[in-house]
Amino acid sequence: MNQKTNRGLFVTFEGIDGSGKSTQCRLLADHLRAKGHAVVLTREPGGSPGAEEIRRLVLEGEPDRWSAETEILLFTAARRDHLERTIQPALEAGKVVVCDRFADSTRMYQGLSRGDLRDTVDQLHSLMIAREPDVTVLIDMDPATGLARAKGRQGTEERFEDFGVDLQEKMRTGFLSLAQEYADRFRVIDGARDMACVASDVVATVQAVLDARL
Ligand code: ADP
Ligand code: TYD
Repeated sequence: MNQKTNRGLFVTFEGIDGSGKSTQCRLLADHLRAKGHAVVLTREPGGSPGAEEIRRLVLEGEPDRWSAETEILLFTAARRDHLERTIQPALEAGKVVVCDRFADSTRMYQGLSRGDLRDTVDQLHSLMIAREPDVTVLIDMDPATGLARAKGRQGTEERFEDFGVDLQEKMRTGFLSLAQEYADRFRVIDGARDMACVASDVVATVQAVLDARL
C-alpha cells in the first residue's frame, strides 16, 4: 500500500492509557469538520466490524489470557482489516483519518511489555500493514495521573490497565524514544494540562502539517 498515492491525511494519536487520546481525537475531528474537512474518526483495536470483534478478544479477560506473540497476531489481524475497510478507502477519497492508536501501540505494548519482541512486531508490520501515519501526536503525561483517569472510567476493557503503573512507566519511556526514532512524523504534546490547552496545541500541530501540504 503505497503512502504517496492518496490525497488524504492520516493522523494517529498515541500515549499511555488515560492520557486523553480519545478526548483529543474527538476535539480535533470536531475542529477539522468545522473547517470543512471530511473526517473519519476511528480507533484501534477496532474501527471496522471485524476488528471490533477482535477488540473484545484482546481487551477483556485476565491479563495472562494471551501471550505477547499471540497478541501481535491478533492486533495485526485487526489492523489489516481496519486498514483495508476503513482507513485506506477514506484516504483514497481524500479524507482526514483521525485514529486513536495504531501500529506504534503494538511496537510498545506487545513489543516491550513482556520481553523484547520489537523485531517480530516490525517484521509482521512490514509484511501485513506497510503503512505509517503522516503525523502521530504523542500525548505525554505522568503514568500515575493517566492510570487514575483511566480507572475512573470503570469499563470492562481493563486487561492492559490491570498490568499496573510499572507497565505504564515503561510505555511512557518507550513512546518518548519512539518519537525520537520516527522524529519526522511524531509531535510530542504535554497532556497534563486542561483539555482546551492540549486541544489548541493539537490543532496547531495538525494544521501546520495540512498547511505544509498545500
Ligand atoms: P485515553 O483515550 O488516552 O485513554 P481519554 O480521552 O479517554 O484518554 O481520557 C481519560 C479520562 O480523563 C476521561 O474521563 C476524560 O474525560 C478525562 N480527561 C481527558 N483529558 C483530560 C484533561 N486534559 N484533564 C483532565 N481530565 C481529562
Ligand atoms: P484504548 O481503547 O486506546 O485504551 P485507553 O483509552 O485506555 O488508552 O486501547 C486499549 C488497550 O489496548 C490499551 O491498553 C493499549 C492496548 N493496545 C495494545 O496493547 N496494542 C495495540 O496494538 C493497540 C492498538 C492497543
